[in-house]
Amino acid sequence: MTAGFSGDVAEHYARFRRGYPERVLDTLQEYFSLTPADSVLDLGCGTGQLALPFARRVRSVLGMDPEPDMLRLARERAGEQGLANVTWVLGADTDVPALGALLGQASPLAMAVVGQALHWMRPDALFRDLRPLFRTGGGIAVLANGAPLWQQDSVWSGALRGFLEEYFDTELTSSCGTAEQDLIRYAEALGEAGFSDVRSTAHSYTDELTFEQVVGGLCSAVPAELLPTAERRPAFEHRLRKALPPGELFPEQVRVSALVGRAG
Ligand SMILES: C[S@@+](CC[C@H](N)C(=O)[O-])C[C@H]1O[C@@H](n2cnc3c(N)ncnc32)[C@H](O)[C@@H]1O
Repeated sequence: MTAGFSGDVAEHYARFRRGYPERVLDTLQEYFSLTPADSVLDLGCGTGQLALPFARRVRSVLGMDPEPDMLRLARERAGEQGLANVTWVLGADTDVPALGALLGQASPLAMAVVGQALHWMRPDALFRDLRPLFRTGGGIAVLANGAPLWQQDSVWSGALRGFLEEYFDTELTSSCGTAEQDLIRYAEALGEAGFSDVRSTAHSYTDELTFEQVVGGLCSAVPAELLPTAERRPAFEHRLRKALPPGELFPEQVRVSALVGRAG
């Protein structure tokens, strides 16, 4: 069972979801003292938003995700970028104990990174399962790459939320693990699982999205079975355009947060 990131959703994810600022990756590299000799796990790797940039910084990356279409596109992108040090594995958080058996003591991890994906997992069990797998000074980084497009503090985001709530006939309340209270809960869970030096940092910047990027971002986040079919897509987009305020660009304040903790 997957979280709905198949087919068209995966294609939109690969095309429209932004990567993470280098500055945030630098922060993680410094905190975990990552070197070119290290190995990193990217759990819930999607189409490689973290696995690929970290593959340039460390010896090897293991990109793990339960959605075959996400893995396929991540693998294609790695090939396009000439990256040959990422191993793509079909698996979920519940497969981490098996991964531990594979890694053994010989090749411990320097870091496990979870980007925009922890809300699909069981954090308490995952943190406990991961803890024995790290080298000295290694640990976990939980990242959020901005709030969902319909949950932001702007006029157009509010209009988008209103449109989607009417279209899907449901109230959209989930922060998808990106809100302050999510970070607090995850930090507590890290502490309870025995992680130390738990802290969070954030980096904010402003971006501007075109209408195509708003639609693309939306189609990368809505489960495949709920997306309008190809025939209905033009009518959907037409209605959405009318629901949003006029203008070519939709400004977005992107807050990227990183919660880290050391296993030792
Ligand atoms: C929103 S995407 C995040 C992709 C990427 N890490 C990023 O930061 O953009 C969430 C990913 O988590 C994966 N996922 C869902 N449930 C999972 C689970 N139980 N264990 C691991 N990954 C999971 C999905 O297949 C999807 O690729």
